[in-house]
Amino acid sequence: MKIFMDTANVDEIREFADQGIVYGVTTNPTLIARSGRSQAEVIPEICKLIPGPVSAEVISTDCSGMVEEAKKLAAIAKNVVVKIPCITEGLKAVKILSGLGIATNVTLVFSLGQALLAARAGATYVSPFIGRLDDIGEDGVKLVADMVKVFRLYQLPTQIIAASIRNVDHVNRVMMTGADIATIPTKVLRELIHHELTDKGLARFLEDYRNSLKG
Ligand code: E4P
Repeated sequence: MKIFMDTANVDEIREFADQGIVYGVTTNPTLIARSGRSQAEVIPEICKLIPGPVSAEVISTDCSGMVEEAKKLAAIAKNVVVKIPCITEGLKAVKILSGLGIATNVTLVFSLGQALLAARAGATYVSPFIGRLDDIGEDGVKLVADMVKVFRLYQLPTQIIAASIRNVDHVNRVMMTGADIATIPTKVLRELIHHELTDKGLARFLEDYRNSLKG
């Protein structure tokens, strides 16, 4: 499972860019607004920091508007992936963009049926939102597991990005499903690295080392 960062905060991405952990980035209009900057400023900077796929979302809701926006976004950098909402007009746009060789990430996916349609339309990536499904009492990770099964069964090349991840447990559980990618908020990524026993163990090793010098 590859790791993407789910943020539009360039400083946060810079913090992790050198560690070799982060393969790609996903953004959305909410994350862009939270960064306090515009999509036009932020996306080129992220694309320079991270050479892998960087998702930038359209805000049009009609097919031709989405295609026009997508062309402009794709022109920013070779690694831009255009995020398209899972609605009828969106799937039409995905088909056109796939024909133009523009990579797409179908977002706001909440069911197996939506995932299959997105894949059949030619999406490069599809993003099931697990946290938001959990919020309404459903099992978001189960949707990811079902999608992995179906995509393998029918040999669909679309990659699955587990999105709307809220905690470390979500990451651990999607890892076990065989999802291609998890897009992880910075806070959860920091928590993933940390373990209390690592800190305790390191403190003990260093103390023992210092004591051994005293002879
Ligand atoms: C990812 O592509 C989505 O933009 C993101 O994971 C949504 O997460 P949220 O449900 O926490 O807003």
